[in-house]
Amino acid sequence: MKKFLFVAMLLCGIYSAQAIKIIHGPYLQAVSDTEATIMWVTDTKALSWVELAPNDGTNFYHVERPQYYQTYLGKRVYGTVHQIRITGLEPGKSYRYSTSSKEVVDMKGHRVTYGHVATTKVYGKNFNNVFTTLQPGKEKIQFIMLNDIHAKQEKMAALLNTFEKGKTDMVFYTGDMVSMVPTEDILFQGFVDLSVAHFAKQVPFYLARGNHETRGLFATSFMTYFPSLTGKPYYTLKHGDVFFIILDGGEDKPDSCLEYYETAQYDNYRKEEAEWLKGVVESEDCKNAKYRVVLMHMPPIGGKNMWHGPKHAGECFFPVLNKANITVMLSGHTHKYSYNTPETTDAEFPILVNAHNTALKANVNKSGITIDVIDTNGSIKHTHTFK
Ligand SMILES: [Fe+2]
Repeated sequence: MKKFLFVAMLLCGIYSAQAIKIIHGPYLQAVSDTEATIMWVTDTKALSWVELAPNDGTNFYHVERPQYYQTYLGKRVYGTVHQIRITGLEPGKSYRYSTSSKEVVDMKGHRVTYGHVATTKVYGKNFNNVFTTLQPGKEKIQFIMLNDIHAKQEKMAALLNTFEKGKTDMVFYTGDMVSMVPTEDILFQGFVDLSVAHFAKQVPFYLARGNHETRGLFATSFMTYFPSLTGKPYYTLKHGDVFFIILDGGEDKPDSCLEYYETAQYDNYRKEEAEWLKGVVESEDCKNAKYRVVLMHMPPIGGKNMWHGPKHAGECFFPVLNKANITVMLSGHTHKYSYNTPETTDAEFPILVNAHNTALKANVNKSGITIDVIDTNGSIKHTHTFK
């Protein structure tokens, strides 16, 4: 009888021997007002899907829930990194989700042999896979920002104490979360796993790529792990009264620097990005927003002491941004706090540089943006307000 029950449960997919395991995630990426991408990694190759349900108090098993897949040219994709994009969502609405991966044991010709399934348990008090889409026009929003963590877990955990469950809508990582990307594991051990443990199943983090994330064998797989709304590491977001522009400054030294071993082409990359930026600042979303906040890892500050990367980023982006009535630019890279007024740079807006050991916490409402600079002990070191 027991044997029969086991086989029956296996056939129903209720029981899984967990031969396949989810080893990282799930974590949210590229969440906008109408879409979200769910990411996770399994220990073996699998075909995966997400089931989605509104957060309306019904049991997840109340009705058949729609399934979403990762596809390429009409075929479902199998692998170990699962990136499932869900579109057609409603702004400011909460959704529950489950993640499932069916192990691909063998592929011969067109025949596929499947193994076990790793899936989310969608009942019980531990089921908390719930996220909320962004909401343009929302009365009050809150975001936090960390940067230059360089995989230092203790410091990052202390700074993540600024995250307020139910209040913080989004988390920005403004570059150099790791020092190099030689392996996939470095990304997860460096900052993704800790993010998942703290918030990333429920609240998205958005990356502004740092110069250190451009280095190492896995650097070219950046979009595999951190998809964006444009398919590039530069993109925009709308939430509350803020239009966010996330820029990628590339590397810090000249492309010819021996340290890059002839692989760098960031001057052309930044010029291409500047062309995209021209279209962004002309958009109605950008023009109509109450506030425009730019995030870029390397701040183009420092005059004659500036290295080529930030200097060229300033030359490419400032002429465009200076016409766009930018509220503030948030940066990192220097590992040191600084507040740079327009009189001291080529930008016609302030540039707030966050240190490696502080977090920014921004509260935005109709009367302005208040940004606290908070250290690892939770003490507010500086406060800036923007109207
Ligand atoms: Fe940096």
